Amino acid sequence: MVDLPGEPSRIDIVGEYIEKSKGIRLLEIGINEGDVICELRQRGMEIDYTGVDINIQNVRKFEGKVIGMDSRDFWKTLTEQDKWDVILIDGDHGYSTVVIDMRESKKHIPVGGFILCHDVGHYPKMSNVDAGSAFCEVFLADKCFSCSLYPGHTDGMAVAERLK
Ligand SMILES: C[S@@+](CC[C@H](N)C(=O)[O-])C[C@H]1O[C@@H](n2cnc3c(N)ncnc32)[C@H](O)[C@@H]1O
Repeated sequence: MVDLPGEPSRIDIVGEYIEKSKGIRLLEIGINEGDVICELRQRGMEIDYTGVDINIQNVRKFEGKVIGMDSRDFWKTLTEQDKWDVILIDGDHGYSTVVIDMRESKKHIPVGGFILCHDVGHYPKMSNVDAGSAFCEVFLADKCFSCSLYPGHTDGMAVAERLK
């Protein structure tokens, strides 16, 4: 999907939440060409980056760790100690995978960290979009997280902050 002119881009939103988290560790599920990390580095942000994509042929060269793997397998390689301050979920948008990415991401976010989920749509349509219904199912009833939809972003960016 695309960011429309005049609205906060997915990159603006990721940058904002890295600052809010007061950390530097970013995990991106679904890198594509690497626009997010390349643009944030151009803006001068210090970021300890890890990106995962099932197809890394399109990924540009940048400083950071790139893992060519299906995200469903990537989560299995992690231990409890692996944490990121911000996790952007923007890989496979089909329900069966995105719901796994959301569930697994919860294990790797510290208190005060943020999980950002792209392409979730908007209320009330959110529940008709795979990523939106997965977000509602995984996060809304979880008292460890405070959930919101970022305002004015056409594709829909849901934000889950770990509270405890
Ligand atoms: C929408 S693009 C990511 C865009 C990128 N986050 C950005 O903002 O520029 C989705 C990416 O997810 C990757 N992808 C699809 N299924 C995946 C999976 N099961 N595991 C990991 N990556 C996957 C695709 O190869 C594609 O590069």
